[in-house]
Amino acid sequence: MGLEAMVDTVLCGDAIEVMKSLPDESVSCIVTSPPYNIGLDYGICRDLIPHDEFVEFQESWLGEAYRVSEDTARMYVIVSENMLFWFRNSAEARGWRWGQLLSWCKPNPVQTRRISGDWNYMTEYILLFRKGKRTPMDSSGDSHTFNWFIVATPQSNFTEKREHPAQLPILLCKMLLARTPGGLVLDPFCGSGSVLIAARTLRKHWLGIDLNPDYCEMARRRIAEVPEALPFEPTKNVDPVSQETMLEEDE
Ligand SMILES: C[S@@+](CC[C@H](N)C(=O)[O-])C[C@H]1O[C@@H](n2cnc3c(N)ncnc32)[C@H](O)[C@@H]1O
Repeated sequence: MGLEAMVDTVLCGDAIEVMKSLPDESVSCIVTSPPYNIGLDYGICRDLIPHDEFVEFQESWLGEAYRVSEDTARMYVIVSENMLFWFRNSAEARGWRWGQLLSWCKPNPVQTRRISGDWNYMTEYILLFRKGKRTPMDSSGDSHTFNWFIVATPQSNFTEKREHPAQLPILLCKMLLARTPGGLVLDPFCGSGSVLIAARTLRKHWLGIDLNPDYCEMARRRIAEVPEALPFEPTKNVDPVSQETMLEEDE
């Protein structure tokens, strides 16, 4: 299958194997949350494997992702705390250049991650990498430039229902993509398809991969519910403090 036939589709299969069928330097941006190895139930695959095996898996897909990325591509990888301290080294070993650490703060507590008598997990980390030189961000996109995002995680009583155990909010994906240049967005672990939906609403092309056929169907259904060419609306974060005000106070 040529690249053109793969664009704007969800492909079912192993991320590394499917990426092998993509040409070199064919995608302009990657936004993804790979398996976290914390025992989540993804239906057909184990999310709890020995650490060495897990690191090897991450490094393999990072290498393939590097090959298929255009020179100057940006890659955002959302990781859990257990991956934070080694993931950068793994990515750099596969050619990626370190960019920045961004934080996703969740104002709504996640039931399964509550720890009685200790700090609750309300944050995930977004590791930004680059391939090659840093190019400017797209200034016609969203005006949010802070390195944190306060966005609720989908839950069953929201319009954006939680249908996947690790579903990203579409708003978060939109905020990441809005200022990121490039027309073809890849999510090699697309799950429910939130990254792909965000790309579509921003009039970018997208390509999703997931091992679980049920998630592929879920992503296709959710994408089909999005009108093809929504006008871009600047995203609204829950924090009311405008960036301008904060910068003035800084001086
Ligand atoms: C953290 S979840 C991603 C969730 C997604 N970002 C969303 O918003 O729904 C990781 C996903 O990776 C998928 N997965 C696990 N191993 C895989 C592999 N080898 N190749 C492709 N997908 C895989 C799982 O089925 C799961 O949907």
